Amino acid sequence: MNFEFQNPTRILFGAGVLSRLGEVARGEGQRALLVTGGGSVKRNGAFDRAVTSLKKAGVAFEECSGVEPNPRLSTVVRGARLAQTKQCDLIIALGGGSVMDAAKVMAATVFHEGDPWEMMVHSPTGTRLPTRALPIITVPTLAATGSEMNKGAVITNEQTVEKSFVIADCLYPRVALIDPTLTLTVPPDQTAYGVCDLMTHVTEGYFNGSDGAPLQDRFAEGVLLTALEWGPRAVANGQDLEARSQVQWASVVALNGWVQAGADAVGFPVHMIEHTISAIHDVAHGAGLAVVNPAWMRAAATIRPARFAQFAERVFGVGHAEGNELERALSGVQRFEDFLRAIHCPTRLSELHLDGTLIERYARETLQTIHDGQGRLPGRPAMDEAAIIKLFNDAR
Ligand code: NZQ
Ligand code: ZN
Repeated sequence: MNFEFQNPTRILFGAGVLSRLGEVARGEGQRALLVTGGGSVKRNGAFDRAVTSLKKAGVAFEECSGVEPNPRLSTVVRGARLAQTKQCDLIIALGGGSVMDAAKVMAATVFHEGDPWEMMVHSPTGTRLPTRALPIITVPTLAATGSEMNKGAVITNEQTVEKSFVIADCLYPRVALIDPTLTLTVPPDQTAYGVCDLMTHVTEGYFNGSDGAPLQDRFAEGVLLTALEWGPRAVANGQDLEARSQVQWASVVALNGWVQAGADAVGFPVHMIEHTISAIHDVAHGAGLAVVNPAWMRAAATIRPARFAQFAERVFGVGHAEGNELERALSGVQRFEDFLRAIHCPTRLSELHLDGTLIERYARETLQTIHDGQGRLPGRPAMDEAAIIKLFNDAR
């Protein structure tokens, strides 16, 4: 193993930490842009509690509401302009991954001359990574993306129908206030998609990484086992604060860089394929992953059966008596898919109401967005267009 790891985001975790928002914000700025989504935080009282805390601490704020799921570039530009006009010196994101991602890119756009799409990894004009951003405080209201404690953001360009991402050190939030009570109102479907998303963050590293990071394997398996234990409870009873807390912590750890450190993963192929679907059809990210991931795993398991058999054994208890290595590997994938179905995730394109007629376009546009030197999707295995088309046909 050979790696560097640093995550500077300070975490405050626990029921009720939202009340400390004002105190925390006062240490970072004087006038905040408070970014929210389509209204859930108004309906469940989180917005009022945030405002009360800010007022008590004497932190002024401007509101930027209406960030949509799969947040759009035009929304980022709108928020950044507002931050500039109102001379905000701090960005607070109160919402799900979409709100946090949009807020992060707003924070960088304030200093970016030109089109913020240039900051994205797949910008046609060549990427201009941001090096400066306003300080960011994240307050997640949905356990899924891990955006609250990482340096990534995913944005959709609604004009070109592309979904791309930026990863830059200046996007690390200064502070993440992670209050599981804020997730009590997340509906069962979004809760389940979040569980699928966090598990997929871990499986991407586990299956596309090297075999030489056994401790990282154990961390990854720990996150997966935690999601298997507590995810269904959070889906079945949204008011179960203990389940919400365990799922939320798992979602933070799944993509704050810790589990992936040293695993040397090649690509994030399931995500890259899913992003094409959510760019075109605006489906929920975690729902798209639930369709793509089992199909991707079935294809990859034939290439790396030993690693998938390890996953099957350690995460799903598939014993050595249950067949040869490949059979055990495929049993693990089946049990993962069964789990997703048990928490009511879609696992077929048809369940996303997609008839499969655009499969060739999905494959082509995925590779337009990201490819290695030989035109293949990075991952283990690297996949060409025909392999991605086959994967989608298997997921119809
Ligand atoms: O918009 P509001 O009204 O807030 O409603 C949202 C939205 O409709 C609702 N919601 C959020 N918190 C709620 C709630 N409803 C009731 N009670 C609450 N407490 O849930 C819906 C979905 O929200 P969204 O933010 O879109 O979901 P998620 O957190 O799954 O974020 C998805 C986005 O993150 C990107 C995805 O591509 C997608 O654009 N990702 C970001 C990553 C990152 N930055 O590291 C990594 C991920 O792999 C992912 O790609
Ligand atoms: Zn994800």
